[in-house]
Amino acid sequence: MNIQLLFKTTTQINNLTNTLFVGTNMKFNTKTIHGGQKDIDPAYNSVMPPIYQTTTYAQSTPGGHKGFEYSRSGNPTRAALENSLAAIENGKFGLAFGSGLAAIDAVIKLLKPGDEVISTNDLYGGSYRLFTKIFEGLGIKFHFIGMNNANNIENYINKNTKLIWVETPTNPMINIIDIKTCAFISKKHNLLLAVDNTFATPYLQNPLDHGADIVMHSATKYLGGHSDVVMGALIVKDDALAKKLYFIQNASGAICGPQDAFLVLRGIKTLHLRMQRHCENGKAVAHYLQNNPKIENVYWPGFENHPNHEIAKEQMSDYGGMVSFTTIGNNYNEAIKIVENLKVFTLAESLGGVESLAGHPASMTHASIPKEEREKTGVVDSLIRLSVGIEDIEDLIEDLEQAIN
Ligand SMILES: Cc1ncc(COP(=O)(O)O)c(C=O)c1O
Repeated sequence: MNIQLLFKTTTQINNLTNTLFVGTNMKFNTKTIHGGQKDIDPAYNSVMPPIYQTTTYAQSTPGGHKGFEYSRSGNPTRAALENSLAAIENGKFGLAFGSGLAAIDAVIKLLKPGDEVISTNDLYGGSYRLFTKIFEGLGIKFHFIGMNNANNIENYINKNTKLIWVETPTNPMINIIDIKTCAFISKKHNLLLAVDNTFATPYLQNPLDHGADIVMHSATKYLGGHSDVVMGALIVKDDALAKKLYFIQNASGAICGPQDAFLVLRGIKTLHLRMQRHCENGKAVAHYLQNNPKIENVYWPGFENHPNHEIAKEQMSDYGGMVSFTTIGNNYNEAIKIVENLKVFTLAESLGGVESLAGHPASMTHASIPKEEREKTGVVDSLIRLSVGIEDIEDLIEDLEQAIN
């Protein structure tokens, strides 16, 4: 929602609230297409929101505008996306940023020097880098802890703790963290709970429904879905929190452009279809790898022996398309050879696009985490992470077979 407007006049609030709540009673698949999308083009009734490629908006008199005055503060294409984001995450306010990291940056800017954050120790390397290399230098303290047992969090809470940062499933170990228990603890101690929902997407889980305060997405991934955009998102329910985050979005200025907002909005319209296939293919790949004698460990929350399978079963509607594995012998060079040999899977950073991607976290996404640190969490030399796409499953398995064997 265009929060800037929300906090202006009552008429504007009512108008926007009417638009925003389009979708509140819809089921998920309908929401991906229509959620928050009403009167999107008052000029010509176009069905898709126009790309308002404009910096500014003419005013009849100072302050006399139609709801938008400068595109850092608000842009109609971005507002259409922000309303959609709010709808699909069962939130009230969506905020779009220039990248996932820009969205995380905005959340940490809610804090001040001396504040402490408890974060999962198995998280995206870029988030770890942002926390340790930027925000620790500005006086914020981070505790990186194992959250497989969420009750563990309570041991690290003190009077300075302000935020719990959760990523579930985690990147790249596909650990599952119990959001409800985290929410119980955060409420008990009056803390904020933020959940990076990039891997699961709102198709599989809605953290706000489990009690989280903030949902974060690298919209670059499944929401955009076509590996053609870099973007981040935050979704919240609480008015006061939305107001603070909007202030940061506008004041720090890490917004996305209207063309990118259009692309992600278009991506969201097929999220449910893509995710269904990602989950089917992910399951088939996980089972194939589990039965391959050259593979040591397969990390996929659908396996009954996954440490938090029961929590995954409860908080997610399926198990997603991310699968990680290690080879017997844990040989760095062998892992590199496998990813080099893949032909249908592309060796590349990122995930969540229609095409299958493979990555070697130790040398790619997690290279910024010291070896001893990353190995503590399972990111060993032979770990390979797959983002299983929506191609024909036979082709994907044949490709893995030839690359591994
Ligand atoms: C789980 C997770 N969170 C956050 C990010 C950062 O997002 P972006 O690359 O859009 O800045 C990524 C990127 O890979 C990610 O995988």
